[in-house]
Amino acid sequence: MSPVTLLALLGVTLTLSRIQALTCQKGTLNSVYNATELPLRWTTGQEDCEEGWGCQDTLMLIHNGPQVNVVITKGCTQAEDQEARVTEHRAGPGLSIISYTHVCRKANLCNDLANSVPLWTPSSTAAPAPEGTQCPTCLSRDECKESGTELPCPAGLRHCYNGILLLNGGGISTSLRVQGCMAQGGCNLLNGTQEIGPIRVREKCNPKDFLTCQSGNKLQFGPDVSRKPVEWTVSGNKMCASGEACQETLLLIDAGHKPLLVGNKGCASSGTQDFTATFIHSGPPGVLVASYYHVCSSNGCNRADNSSVLLNVLPSPAAPAPGSLRCPACVDVFGTCQNPKVITCPMGSTHCYKGNIQLTGGGLSATVTIQGCMAKPAKSLLKNTQNIGVLSVNENIEGEPAPKGGVAPAPYLAWMVGLGLSLALWCGVFCLPF
Ligand SMILES: *[C@@H]1O[C@H](CO)[C@@H](O)[C@H](O)[C@H]1NC(C)=O
Ligand SMILES: *[C@@H]1O[C@H](CO)[C@@H](O)[C@H](O)[C@H]1NC(C)=O
Ligand SMILES: *[C@@H]1O[C@H](CO)[C@@H](O)[C@H](O)[C@H]1NC(C)=O
Repeated sequence: MSPVTLLALLGVTLTLSRIQALTCQKGTLNSVYNATELPLRWTTGQEDCEEGWGCQDTLMLIHNGPQVNVVITKGCTQAEDQEARVTEHRAGPGLSIISYTHVCRKANLCNDLANSVPLWTPSSTAAPAPEGTQCPTCLSRDECKESGTELPCPAGLRHCYNGILLLNGGGISTSLRVQGCMAQGGCNLLNGTQEIGPIRVREKCNPKDFLTCQSGNKLQFGPDVSRKPVEWTVSGNKMCASGEACQETLLLIDAGHKPLLVGNKGCASSGTQDFTATFIHSGPPGVLVASYYHVCSSNGCNRADNSSVLLNVLPSPAAPAPGSLRCPACVDVFGTCQNPKVITCPMGSTHCYKGNIQLTGGGLSATVTIQGCMAKPAKSLLKNTQNIGVLSVNENIEGEPAPKGGVAPAPYLAWMVGLGLSLALWCGVFCLPF
């Protein structure tokens, strides 16, 4: 074969693949709108598909009285061509689900639906009959408020739906809490639908599947936090994944000077049984490390509102007879101990401790540096403990080789000192994105 023939063949191949590879509209949207804002229109980006792939267009409306959840996904697909189709998965009045799906290869950007008009008629916002059943009505990607809005149902609807829709695929991954009016009872909003375009849909109606928990972190220093209860409330709420429970974790570290209290509230991984426990990981005469962990499974049950849950079970500090050993004492989250105070250790102390504990989990990441008194034979504060409540813990004792995979103290802690933040540190500074 001559080089010219080979080039010609290559040229043909390249031309062919250029014909076959499509450019499609690309984009996703998943958002709740006031029904009065519909119909909507939109613009999208583009993407180049692999050879042989088509363009897909999916629009889904979940309509619930005054609100509509709009889901759009567009992009390349391996699915076969499919005529544009409007499907009423659950007809109104009351809760309704309707979709538009289309797969095409006839031209670039053929997935060109640009508004919700094909699915939206003004009649679908018909006013409900003034009398009859009332249902809590909600459409939310967070929780439905416990004392939510009760709205009258359209005439003839006698059942209240209370569930969660799980949507996955086509770049959409979401849980949608739904409460509203239906003609029939039970957990059957989807009416047998399992897929809408590339999106797999499921529903669950057991309240255990959409538990809402209090959520947030709190770090607090203070001379008295190991003796006097301090407030432990958080402003956030979080809807947990299916099967998860609520948890609250409180950790106290006291080296005899400026103790630290770390609190976390949120979801506990699925399969965790309900329980309440307190632990004394390390105690007098040396550094005190103690924790409280509570797991429960009803809405907002992680609601201990002050630190007495832990303090009440600590051994009362009998005035310790001072020994002869003196150690620097310090608990800090700024990478190093800023202002250790040299203290006289209680009788029985045999050496000084210096190290740090890395805390991660529940949206929190911090390295707590610790110096204080210690009694033989203990060298470690945490022994082999790897978790304190929802927090993963990793202790590094100075002078011992750091365990493999240890993380260096985070630089943003030093940055916080520069900003001169107060010593009560809240989530927002410390929180990692979930
Ligand atoms: C929806 O919009 C209408 C008119 O703009 C307004 O009166 C109504 O309060 C809104 N409803 C909700 C739930 O925001
Ligand atoms: C449920 O689905 C069936 C078949 O898919 C359809 O004929 C019926 O109208 C749907 N019911 C409602 C209430 O939407
Ligand atoms: C702390 O909480 C307990 C119950 O959890 C309550 O009895 C007590 O009064 C609270 N103390 C303070 C100081 O808020």
